[in-house]
Amino acid sequence: MTLNTMRATDAAPLLFDWYDRHHRDLPWRVSPPMAARGAIADPYRIWLSEVMLQQTTVQAVKAYFDKFLTLWPKVEDLAAAETEEVMKAWAGLGYYARARNLKKCAQAVAYEHGGRFPDTEEGLKALPGIGDYTAAAIAAIAFNRQSAVLDGNVERVISRLYAIETPLPAAKPEMRRLVSELTPSDRPGDFAQAMMDLGATICTPKRPACSLCPFRSGCRALTVADPETFPRKAAKKERPLRLGAAFVAIDNSNAVYLRKRAETGLLGGMTEVPGTDWTARRDGETSIEAQPFAAGWESCGTVTHVFTHFELRLSVYRAKVANAVAGGEGWWEPIASLKAQALPTVMKKAITQAIPHAFKPV
Ligand code: ADE
Repeated sequence: MTLNTMRATDAAPLLFDWYDRHHRDLPWRVSPPMAARGAIADPYRIWLSEVMLQQTTVQAVKAYFDKFLTLWPKVEDLAAAETEEVMKAWAGLGYYARARNLKKCAQAVAYEHGGRFPDTEEGLKALPGIGDYTAAAIAAIAFNRQSAVLDGNVERVISRLYAIETPLPAAKPEMRRLVSELTPSDRPGDFAQAMMDLGATICTPKRPACSLCPFRSGCRALTVADPETFPRKAAKKERPLRLGAAFVAIDNSNAVYLRKRAETGLLGGMTEVPGTDWTARRDGETSIEAQPFAAGWESCGTVTHVFTHFELRLSVYRAKVANAVAGGEGWWEPIASLKAQALPTVMKKAITQAIPHAFKPV
């Protein structure tokens, strides 16, 4: 049996032939026909879209992207925006630290770089909130640099093309080397976008459409195994369980006591009801003893939430308080406006446990 192996120089022409006909039209993208008419990518739009795309799908990003561009058409506009307004426009995308960094990055570009994004991976990486992936993607897509762009879609394509047996994440350096070998000096930005489109539309996680794939003649996974079984993944470690308590206080005007989490760390800067730290301890930490202020707390069960590195079980307590007894750093938020707050899912679960109708449409 001969094993298929893609020659590095064959990949880009095959992929471009496919991409030129089947690329997705995306609001931030300069597609091949647009490029043929002389359009060039706007680094501000590419940066904004790539940061948003780290949070959610292409489909979901479109509306956010349009909203941001309407509110802040240029990087200088975003730099001058109120942070609170940026957070509001970002609400729903999650990870609010990203929204804060977005504004900081816009300020750095506007005030320290004369309104122009740096055009190298290194220069981009020095900006707030831009990591390895984003720097490589912007360098390639906005500045036509020959950077190796590796996201989840590209990892899948590469793992199948070469039938890589090393599981993720250990396989990443090898994958990056292979992408680097395949990336051409001509149209490296289109190459990156085409690999992502291929992963999103043909080389999908389940039931890939191999018969339509431009790489089918050179795909090793197609000859040695079921492509769907790639990328190999290391057996999942069991998530440790952490425990905590959350306290939902409701005052006589039907407002809930909220406070802001620390800016750094998990769910940094987001909103929460008062509670304990989340620890692995099983002693008094999660009981009524941990109350943030004295009130008639009653237990209303537990909620669980799965984070990347641990599972959390929160004991939820509720109290009706006669007036705004809780001094301190928080505020009272009417139940009707809870939806507009930067509450992470785990907090919405805890509040719903205490007030079942809290997030229901009225
Ligand atoms: N996912 C993340 N960035 C993308 C891009 N530029 N094109 C298509 N899919 C993407």
